[in-house]
Amino acid sequence: MDRILILGATGNIGGLTSERLAGRGAALRLASSREAGRAALAERFPDAETVQADWYDEASLEAAMQGVNRVFVVTPDFMTDERVVTPNIINAAKAVGSINQIVRLIAIPPGLTEAGLSQAFLDTRCGANLHVIAKPLFDASGLPMTYINVPGWIMFNLPWFLAPEVKANRRLAMPAVTDADRMWISEGDIADVAATILTAPIADHVGKEHVLTAPARYDYHAIARMLGEELGDEVAFADDDGPLRETMGEAFDALMIYFQHETRAYGGVVHGETVAELLGRPQETVRDYINANRELFA
Ligand SMILES: NC(=O)c1ccc[n+]([C@@H]2O[C@H](COP(=O)([O-])OP(=O)(O)OC[C@H]3O[C@@H](n4cnc5c(N)ncnc54)[C@H](OP(=O)(O)O)[C@@H]3O)[C@@H](O)[C@H]2O)c1
Repeated sequence: MDRILILGATGNIGGLTSERLAGRGAALRLASSREAGRAALAERFPDAETVQADWYDEASLEAAMQGVNRVFVVTPDFMTDERVVTPNIINAAKAVGSINQIVRLIAIPPGLTEAGLSQAFLDTRCGANLHVIAKPLFDASGLPMTYINVPGWIMFNLPWFLAPEVKANRRLAMPAVTDADRMWISEGDIADVAATILTAPIADHVGKEHVLTAPARYDYHAIARMLGEELGDEVAFADDDGPLRETMGEAFDALMIYFQHETRAYGGVVHGETVAELLGRPQETVRDYINANRELFA
């Protein structure tokens, strides 16, 4: 049986994907850069191997990859230096020699490259600013790559950015300048796609980029309206940066710079039925998500 290493297993997508893979009986090795993270993984996934590996330390990656065939990589926004992290992952994979698939989560609107982004945007290390650096390095490595490209908002932004204020004051409070007609893709669907790819025959997905999109787009007013309908109580949009500022802390300024690009760059994304085709079921809608996580908003 293939052994799958998850780099980013304590994170949102990495953790959910680990759950999905554990449910399929996959042989897992789950990584955290922190001892406490490794202990949390051991408790959450008692049947998995756990390992401490820091992607700024190539030797620790090489040790984590020993005996591994497939790797899933999710890097966090705002902090990752892809010019160091990605070459370290590539070098470690080449050194162990047993890796026959690397699956990498990216978020790149069609056609965007590093050359199309200003230094100020790249410096935010957020979203596409990470992935336009990592992807060409992986492409040039010759390693067997599969990309899961999510050029929209992951639905966990709803609880992260919006839910507390909706719950407390029935306000969808965000700076109006960050509004856009966005596609929303659920973290559950992304994890299911990742688990499907990581357990399918290697030849089915190596060399492919799966672009996950949504059939509808929603701006903040549409999301507020939908929340109101599902909660049975009016939810009003408010042009207010206070809650986002509080949630994001030191990352707030970088996020606001990032939004100057993101609010425009994803408008040209065309919907395809990739999620439904890969999963053999309809994809989760924003309305489904609100209802499944009702207690966060109600
Ligand atoms: N928000 C959106 O709408 C959206 C949309 C599309 C794509 N994305 C992309 O989604 C990704 C974020 O996904 P997420 O929320 O699942 O990430 P996350 O929860 O922030 O998880 C990041 C992981 O990175 C690990 N990590 C941090 N430093 C490390 C190090 N030095 N060495 C090894 N591992 C390290 C963390 O584990 P430890 O701390 O335990 O080591 C954690 O498990 C970003 O790439 C973002 O661009 C986001």
